[in-house]
Amino acid sequence: MLERISQIVDEAKAAVGAATTSAELEELRIKWLGRKAELPNILRGVKDLDPSERGPAGKAANQARVELEGAIDTKMASFAGAELELRLVEDAVDITLPAHPQQFPGGLHLLTQTMREIEDVFLGLGYGIAEGPEVELVAYNFDALNHAPHHPARSPSDTFYVGDSVLLRTHTSPVQVRTMLVTPPPLYVIAPGRVYRRDDDATHTPQFHQIEGLAVDEGISLADLKGTLLAFAKAIFGDEREIRLRPHFFPFTEPSVEVDVSCFACNEGVSNGERCGLCKGTAWIEILGAGMVDPNVFASVAGEQPAYDPEKVQGFAFGLGIERIAMLKHSVPDLRLLYDNDIRFLEQFA
Ligand code: DAH
Repeated sequence: MLERISQIVDEAKAAVGAATTSAELEELRIKWLGRKAELPNILRGVKDLDPSERGPAGKAANQARVELEGAIDTKMASFAGAELELRLVEDAVDITLPAHPQQFPGGLHLLTQTMREIEDVFLGLGYGIAEGPEVELVAYNFDALNHAPHHPARSPSDTFYVGDSVLLRTHTSPVQVRTMLVTPPPLYVIAPGRVYRRDDDATHTPQFHQIEGLAVDEGISLADLKGTLLAFAKAIFGDEREIRLRPHFFPFTEPSVEVDVSCFACNEGVSNGERCGLCKGTAWIEILGAGMVDPNVFASVAGEQPAYDPEKVQGFAFGLGIERIAMLKHSVPDLRLLYDNDIRFLEQFA
């Protein structure tokens, strides 16, 4: 009996020593120590042995069981360590790989892009860039720009007043005045920036963006205005574009015009056999207001800058909405998309 027990221990230990995986060890545990294995069987039978044999046999069998369990556990522990080691190596994340899906890295807002594109066109034509404050004097926003005392745009229901003589500028036109006050002619400038009006619906937001243009020199005519705006329209909307001038009224220009660009989405107002949705079948799209600088505007700055004598210099001015240009050019269906900060919209233009 004792001999058999020590045989079992030798055989089992040899098998454990040869095992190469933890799964194999679990099988060996069942084979040598499981319910049907020989050693546990011997242990169970000890009570039936001759009393003189019980002591030594029970002791040896128990020892054998403890020894085998120890051998298996020790080997198992060594595997666990090695397997963990292996998993750590195999499962390691390579943090130098690009993240997936690729994140939107950010980009310029469509309005910023459009503003810069327009700036580039006029920089190319020799214009400089001027800026003015968004909190502006009523004197510059309205008075110097020849607005009659009861012009409707002055109404508090249309304009955000900060005080009696201070407001949030309603257009970029006051930069005309500020620039002429500090710069003698000849003058060729554009003035981009934010403007504010008491408006809020699908096609108007209380804050939006404009670019103002002003050219003052000797011998400037409406033909210069038209040539300049044609060059602008072709640069922004494509070389095939034409423009047309329609009579209009602005307090600070005389004559004043609204400028249309030929529709770039259709042919003569018809697109795929149907009335063009962009130009409403008219073949023309309004893009800006303009005109020849009213002599009264020159007179309003001539105290500080006598060179702006309406008898000596002429000028043209124009003003356009950046939102409108961006929406036309990129078929943006709703103005408010420009302000919602929805990445899915914005990243299309980055
Ligand atoms: N300031 C005008 C507006 O906001 C736009 C405008 C029209 C600007 C004609 C001009 C101009 O310089 O000549 O509606």
